[in-house]
Amino acid sequence: MFREDFVWGVASSAYQVEGREEGDGCGKNIWDTFTEEGRIQDGHNSYVTCDHMHRYKEDYALMRMLGIKAYRFSMSWARILPEGTGRVNEKAIALYRDMILEMKKNGVEPYITMYHWEFPQALQDKGGWLNEEVIDWFAEYAKVVAENFSDICENFITLNEPQCFVGLGHLSGVHAPGMKLPYKDVFQIAHNALRAHGKAVINLRKYACRPIKVGYAPTCGMAYPASNKPEDIEAARKTLFGFHQPMDNWTWNVAWFNDPVFLGKYPEEGLKKFAEYLPEITEEDMNLISQPLDFMGQNIYNGYMMKAGADGEPEFVDRYAGFPKTAANWPVTPECFYWGVRFIYERYKLPMFITENGMSCHDNVALDGKVHDPDRQNFLDLYISALQKAVDDGADVRGYFLWTFLDNFEWDKGYTERFGIVHVDFRTQKRIVKDSAYWYQKVIESNGANLSINQKPRQILFLDPVFKQMIWGGNQLETKFGYQIPGDKTGECWAVSAHPNGDCVVREGIYAGKTLSEMWKEYPELFGNSAYDRFPLLIKIIDAKDDLSIQVHPDDAYAGEHENGSFGKTECWYILDCPEDAALVVGHNAGSKEELADMIAQGKWSELIREVPVKKGDFIQINPGTVHAIKGGLMILETQQNSDITYRVYDYDRLTDGKPRQLHVQQSIDVITVPAPSADDSVKSALELPKNVMHELISCDYYTVWKLDLDGAISFEQTHPFLIMSVIEGEGLVNGQMIKKGDHFVIPSGMGQVDMQGEMVLMASTAK
Ligand code: NOJ
Repeated sequence: MFREDFVWGVASSAYQVEGREEGDGCGKNIWDTFTEEGRIQDGHNSYVTCDHMHRYKEDYALMRMLGIKAYRFSMSWARILPEGTGRVNEKAIALYRDMILEMKKNGVEPYITMYHWEFPQALQDKGGWLNEEVIDWFAEYAKVVAENFSDICENFITLNEPQCFVGLGHLSGVHAPGMKLPYKDVFQIAHNALRAHGKAVINLRKYACRPIKVGYAPTCGMAYPASNKPEDIEAARKTLFGFHQPMDNWTWNVAWFNDPVFLGKYPEEGLKKFAEYLPEITEEDMNLISQPLDFMGQNIYNGYMMKAGADGEPEFVDRYAGFPKTAANWPVTPECFYWGVRFIYERYKLPMFITENGMSCHDNVALDGKVHDPDRQNFLDLYISALQKAVDDGADVRGYFLWTFLDNFEWDKGYTERFGIVHVDFRTQKRIVKDSAYWYQKVIESNGANLSINQKPRQILFLDPVFKQMIWGGNQLETKFGYQIPGDKTGECWAVSAHPNGDCVVREGIYAGKTLSEMWKEYPELFGNSAYDRFPLLIKIIDAKDDLSIQVHPDDAYAGEHENGSFGKTECWYILDCPEDAALVVGHNAGSKEELADMIAQGKWSELIREVPVKKGDFIQINPGTVHAIKGGLMILETQQNSDITYRVYDYDRLTDGKPRQLHVQQSIDVITVPAPSADDSVKSALELPKNVMHELISCDYYTVWKLDLDGAISFEQTHPFLIMSVIEGEGLVNGQMIKKGDHFVIPSGMGQVDMQGEMVLMASTAK
C-alpha cells in the first residue's frame, strides 16, 4: 500500500503550457528559434499553448476540485533571466510567486523543476551546454531561484531528462537546438550538464532561506524480465544498467546519467566503451556531480523485456504482433513500473518520486460533451498498480506525478499528441475534465484503494474444458461441438469445473492461465464472497455412446462423512441430443431396503429399474438417492454440485482392461431412497420457450438453472454471486466478444450490465 503521506501529483513544464505575451519580459529560448526555423510538426508553435500564464488561477482551482495534492512544474530560465545570466526579469518573479501562492491556496504543493529544456538563446549563442561556463550560468540561475522562491516552495528539481536534451537536442537533432554534433561534443555536453546539476544543488541549498529538498529527474527505458526466474531477472537488471545502446543512441543510457549523481562515479563499462570520446573527468568533477540529494526522481514511460539466453547472456524478447501501444506509438509495459522501480531503487537507495508517467491518446470530445479516455485510465491503473507492488516489495516511493494535467505543446510534435487528463481546445482554451481525471481523483481520495490491484477487475472468465475418456464415451464432443478431444472414447467434457480431478483454466484476459479453483481462492469478490469453501458447481457435457452404469449419488451428509469431506451430488440434465426412442433410467421399484438389496444381489435389473422416455430438449432433476443411468446415444449438459462421487450399482458386467469397474453396492444401498418417488412428472420439456428471457428450469438447494433462447439481443444486470453460461447452439456476442456453441464462461459478481446478441441457445446456472 502507498504511504499515508504519498504525494499524488501532476506534472508539466513551462514551455509546454505557459504561453507568452508582449511585454512579459521573457527572453528568447532555443525552442522559439527551433519553432521559427519551422522544425515543429504542422508548423505549430507554443506562443499561446494552454495560456496557463493567464489561466493558472482556474487551472489550480481545477486541480483542487480534482483533489490533486502536488504540482511539478518548471520555470523558464529565459523568462527569469532573459539573457540567461545577469538581469533578472521581475515580472517573471512576480508571476511565478503568484502562481506558487495560488497553488498553495488551492492545497497544491509546488515542486519546481529548474530546467525543462528551454535553454536561453542568449547563452546558446555563446556555445550552450557545450561551453563549460554553463556550469556557472546554471548555478547563477539556481541562486536566483533559491533566493526568490525558497520561502514559499520546499521542493526543487534541477534537470529534467538530461538523456533527452543532451541526445535529442545535440545528437539526433530532433529537439532544439537541433544539432547533430560529434560524439566527443555530446559527451562533453553530458558531463557539463551533470556538473551544472551539481553546482545548482550547492547554490539552491546555499541561497535558500531555509532547508529545502532537492532532487533530479532523469528518464529511462526500463528493462523487465520475461519471467520470475532469477536468470531472467538478472538479465534485465544487467541490461538496464549496461551499455547495449548503439553509439548513435548512446544518450538513452541509464547508468551514465544516474551513477555519477547517485553513486559518485561513472560506470566502468561506459568509461571503457566511450574512452575515445570522453572529456577529462576529474575527482573534483565527480564530487561536484554527486552532491547529496534528498530524493531521486525518475520519469518512466515504458520498457523492454529481457531474458537469459541459452549462453546465460541477456537476450531481448521481441514484442508480439499487435502489442498494446499509445497514440505516440510507445509500448504499454506496466511491468517497467514494478521491475524498473525496484531495480533503480535497489541500486541507488534514495527515496524515489515518479516525476513523470502517462500516455498520449487520440482524445476527442464525444457527442455527450465529455472526453472518454478509457485507454488512459487502463494504462494508469496498470502502471500505478505495478508501482504499488514495487512499494509492497520494498521500494521507497514517496510520490507520483502524472504527465500531464492539461493537453499541451508536445515539443517537436506540436499539438498532435494529447497527454493530458484535462482536454484543452486550443482554439478556445476551454478545459474539459477527461474521465481519467475523475478516476485519478478517486485514486487520490482512496490512496490507491480503487486500483485494480486492490479491486480485482471484472472480466468474463472463458474456460478451457477438461476431457475424460470413459468406456462408454464417443467422439461427438468433436463432431458436434468442435472440441479437440483426446480420443474417440471421450465421454465427458468438464466445461466449468474447479474440481481437483479436472480444474478448468481461464483461457484469456488478465486472469489467463489461472485455474478456476485458484480464481475462487484468490479472488473471492469475483464470486460474490460466497460462503462455500470451494467452487460449488460443476458443468459437464456428456457424450454417451454406450450406456452409463446404473448408479446413485450420495447427499452432502453421507459424502461428507464417507468421502473425505466431499460434497454430495445433486444434478440435473438437459438433453442436447438423443435418438428417437430414447429413455433414461430414473428411479426403481423396490418397496424396502431389504427388497432392494435382494434384487441387486440377484441381478433382477429389468424388474428393479424404472425407465422414462425422453426427447431432445427435455430437462430432468436427479436428486441424491435417485437410481439413475444415462443410456447410450444421449448427449447431455449436466449441472451438478462440485463432486466426483458416484456409486455404481450395476455396470452391465462390462470390462475395462479385462477387469470389471468397481461397484459400490453397500454405499448404494445406504443412499438409495426407498421407496423411490414417482418419476412420472420428473421430465419436462424445455423446448419452445419464450425467446430472449432467462427461463428458470429449476431452483433447488444448490443451484438455479436457466435456459436462454436468444434471437436478437438481451441486456441484463448480473446480480448473482456468479453466473455460469454455456453456449449449446448457435453463435453471438457477449459484451462484444464472439461466442459460439461449445463456449463456457463465468460472469463474475459486480460485472454490471451484460449485453448479449445473436442467434444462440445457452444454459445458465448459479449456486444457491
Ligand atoms: C517527458 C518530457 O519531460 C515531457 O516534457 C514530455 O512532454 C513527456 N515526456 C511526453 O513526451
